Amino acid sequence: MSTAYQQLILDLGLFSKNKFQILLGDSAQVLKSLPSEQIDLIVTSPPYSDQRKNNYGGVKAEEYVEWFLPIAAELKRVLKPRGTFILNIKEKVINGERSTYVLELIMALRAQGWLWTEEFIWNKKNSYPGKWPNRFRDSWERLLQFNKLRDFAMYQEAVMVPIGDWARNRLKNLSETDKRRDNAKNNSGFGKNVSNWLDREYVYPTNVLTLATECYNKSHSAAFPRELPEWFIKLFTQEQDLVLDPFAGSGTTLFAAESLNRSAIGIDLMPEYVDMIKKGFEQMGYIYNLKENKYGNYQQ
Ligand SMILES: C[S@@+](CC[C@H](N)C(=O)[O-])C[C@H]1O[C@@H](n2cnc3c(N)ncnc32)[C@H](O)[C@@H]1O
Repeated sequence: MSTAYQQLILDLGLFSKNKFQILLGDSAQVLKSLPSEQIDLIVTSPPYSDQRKNNYGGVKAEEYVEWFLPIAAELKRVLKPRGTFILNIKEKVINGERSTYVLELIMALRAQGWLWTEEFIWNKKNSYPGKWPNRFRDSWERLLQFNKLRDFAMYQEAVMVPIGDWARNRLKNLSETDKRRDNAKNNSGFGKNVSNWLDREYVYPTNVLTLATECYNKSHSAAFPRELPEWFIKLFTQEQDLVLDPFAGSGTTLFAAESLNRSAIGIDLMPEYVDMIKKGFEQMGYIYNLKENKYGNYQQ
């Protein structure tokens, strides 16, 4: 598309509410170009220590914290005070022992001023089989939640789940006497609490996310399933909020944000991934605006 046409669109004053910015480069540098306190949610999966060295420069376990801290400092600067940072990471086994770099990273991030508010588990329900002499196959990853404030923005109703048969059967098995006794005898409130949930169709989820490892985008070797960023985007943002993925890869976080009517910024070191994301937005009909350096639905 010609620059003149892009300029014309801009001059007409037509713009979409949600914009998508895809930036090429090292996040340690690129993040410095972003304004402070604009981001509502960061969801990202950085390269794990040494894991994909042949694909996109792994970082040694013993250098991981030192490498990540300057990036985290920038993430802290660009995040809104009530925003959330979700870090998907998993330590590998080195010389027969679990590496401690993730634990060290958590400590270092706390020292940097982050609150480590929660740890979610991604339970990979279809991880492929394997046999190791002294352990079983890895089937879960960490999703570490960091915040700047204890009073962070959270929209719990957005991720409620159907109460399900298990809970129904369990509640059914409690006799009327049980419910009455619990309330009357020890004043525990247990019976009352149970009856509160009897008529509910939906309940709050746990902090374990059971998702398949299957990815929609097969063109990146380490893409996470779209449901993963989607869940956190629903939980921690509202429509039109701004989501950032500083290790965007194939753009899963950005496409999840788009599908939920949020804006997003993605950064990646590899030109082929950045091009892949740009193509994805163009295929969905988004138009690149040269002046803003963003994709938007500028025709509407
Ligand atoms: C685990 S992958 C992310 C995959 C992504 N979640 C997805 O679903 O496709 C990590 C990405 O970080 C990028 N990367 C590595 N070091 C980087 C850096 N310093 N700055 C920006 N991107 C980097 C890699 O090119 C890779 O695409």
